[in-house]
Amino acid sequence: MTGQRLEILGFAGSLRKGSFNRGLLRLAGEIMPAEAVLEIFDLAEIPPFNLELELDMPHAPRELKKAIEKADALLIATPEYNYSFSGVLKNAIDWASRPTGSNSFAGKPAAIMSASTGFMGGGRAQYHLRQVLTGLNVMVLNKPELMVTMGSEKFDAEGNLTDGKARENLAKLLEALVAWTQRLKGDS
Ligand SMILES: Cc1cc2nc3c(=O)[nH]c(=O)nc-3n(C[C@H](O)[C@H](O)[C@H](O)COP(=O)(O)O)c2cc1C
Repeated sequence: MTGQRLEILGFAGSLRKGSFNRGLLRLAGEIMPAEAVLEIFDLAEIPPFNLELELDMPHAPRELKKAIEKADALLIATPEYNYSFSGVLKNAIDWASRPTGSNSFAGKPAAIMSASTGFMGGGRAQYHLRQVLTGLNVMVLNKPELMVTMGSEKFDAEGNLTDGKARENLAKLLEALVAWTQRLKGDS
């Protein structure tokens, strides 16, 4: 460690207020290890991707690119939609990967996590997301994996995680992300 806190940028692929995945990210900000701080970027203002606009990019995707480039690491929370990650998230990733030669993700350490109503907790979404991030040269943490299953039983109506075991697992993921980021920065 250089003494400065790591800056982790988080975003969630769900826009709904009571989202489990937004809730996971919110909690991550509260229980982040002392060596790091989480900033959350809301993807709500990101317009649909249009290749014609990439050289004169709209404000929101430009801000997203800047935030990613400034961050020491990323924390991405995704819902599972039809066995994959959400279109909202893919759309944001597409903007931030462009234009050619300006992939904002290149070389970034990252952790991914998911929560869903199903018994797989968004695992299928995570594996698709992992594939896409690998293509963008993101250094995705392999383990631990955090897939919060049966979300309706583990989050309240505001999307706050109420399940103790899942909270513990989130804390472990955050510790691993901090260690992974320090390792890639050569700080440990
Ligand atoms: C279009 C759509 C497709 C979905 N497909 C899946 C799915 O494949 N697997 C799953 O576990 N849940 C699926 N769900 C349920 C989501 O897990 C659930 O809506 C969850 O709350 C989404 O995450 P969020 O709470 O962060 O919005 C789907 C929901 C929607 C709206």
